[in-house]
Amino acid sequence: MVDVKLPFDKQKIVEITKEHPTPFHIYDEKGLRENARRFKEAFSILPGFKEYFAVKACPNPFLLKILKEEGFGTDCSSLPELMLSEKVGIVGEDIMMSSNDTPAEEFVKCKELGGIINLDDISHIDFLEKAAGLPEMICFRYNPGPAKKGNDIIGDPKEAKYGFTKEQMIEGYKILKEKGVKRFGMHTMMVSNELEVRGLVETARLMFELALEVKEKAGIEVEFINLGGGIGTPQMPDQPHTMPYEDIARDMKKVYEIVFAGEMQPKVYLECGRTITGPFGWLITKVRHLKKTYKDYVGTDACMANLMRPALYGAYHHLVVLGKENDDLSHKYDVTGSLCENNDKFAIDRMFPEIEVGDLLVIYNAGAHGHAMGFNYNGKLRSAEILLREDGSVLQIRRAETVDDYFATLDFDKLGEFNGQEK
Ligand SMILES: Cc1ncc(COP(=O)(O)O)c(C=O)c1O
Repeated sequence: MVDVKLPFDKQKIVEITKEHPTPFHIYDEKGLRENARRFKEAFSILPGFKEYFAVKACPNPFLLKILKEEGFGTDCSSLPELMLSEKVGIVGEDIMMSSNDTPAEEFVKCKELGGIINLDDISHIDFLEKAAGLPEMICFRYNPGPAKKGNDIIGDPKEAKYGFTKEQMIEGYKILKEKGVKRFGMHTMMVSNELEVRGLVETARLMFELALEVKEKAGIEVEFINLGGGIGTPQMPDQPHTMPYEDIARDMKKVYEIVFAGEMQPKVYLECGRTITGPFGWLITKVRHLKKTYKDYVGTDACMANLMRPALYGAYHHLVVLGKENDDLSHKYDVTGSLCENNDKFAIDRMFPEIEVGDLLVIYNAGAHGHAMGFNYNGKLRSAEILLREDGSVLQIRRAETVDDYFATLDFDKLGEFNGQEK
């Protein structure tokens, strides 16, 4: 099991900050590769296993290139993500595209790249045919509705906008067959940040049983079943930072053998994001101000634009004060960002050692759905991304945004003529 200890110490971060000011995300190449290898090896007991890394979790081409080297494909959900995949050389059936409310140009681009198109709705069969023509292989995304309970993050499947009903799946495959499509896939994404092995295995069971039902009722055999992403990352420092992949894979294989009993042998795919990069990325931020009112506040130079999960979902992200890791947890603080939203907090009523202005904080598990969820509200600029290489060197893999980037879509020259005002 890969246990994530910080791959850097205070001295290393202080050295990095001389060239790369805080805040920034830092990723650990060694941990990322070891985790990717362990993931791949564990799930390779399933027939034809392949992982399509969910690009949305961490859309950085350098990290995608590392994952390509480890044998992963990409799960893309937009035109820019397809283009990113192409830029790192992940093309053909190493791409799966699962988007919803899909514009025509995404279908066209995915088909051009030879990627596997995963349709979100039965009406998209016609839409795709008109926009790009039907490819040789098509996949459908399943929404189990009342057949499966969701969780707090992904919500109740009945309320989810994604995917086909079971009846639509069966009908859809019949339509494709009539239209001459020869190869079929089946996909779902039923859980998010799931920390129970059973929850993940039950998703597999539901899909395996559906594949048999589709075979019986639509007369087609799916070539693969993509079980989506959603493998969670335990958050507490005393827990292993990744799930027991070996146990999940072993239990999925058992269910596979029982359900299919030799009748079908579809390949099994996953498209995890969080568990692949999440625990191997950290947000580094510096304490800018200390404030005492009704509570004690630690104001940092990062904010929810750098890591939105605590504000959005109330997600716990472990946080340490570099150089004070072993000090007594003697002070209770809210650790905040500078955005004008009161939920812009990385920690609430949490115990820390006494914090001083200038202290460097490390926010854990920021390698997935972290930088990727960044936004510019309140004039906040996206921060840099740094890769800690296996030899201990560092490489900036995305620069921080500047004010010029923020203004790049505005034309101030036109403002001078606007409403007759002088420049
Ligand atoms: C369709 C789809 N696949 C995969 C993922 C990746 O999920 P996770 O990062 O939780 O593994 C997501 C996340 O939103 C998704 O929407």
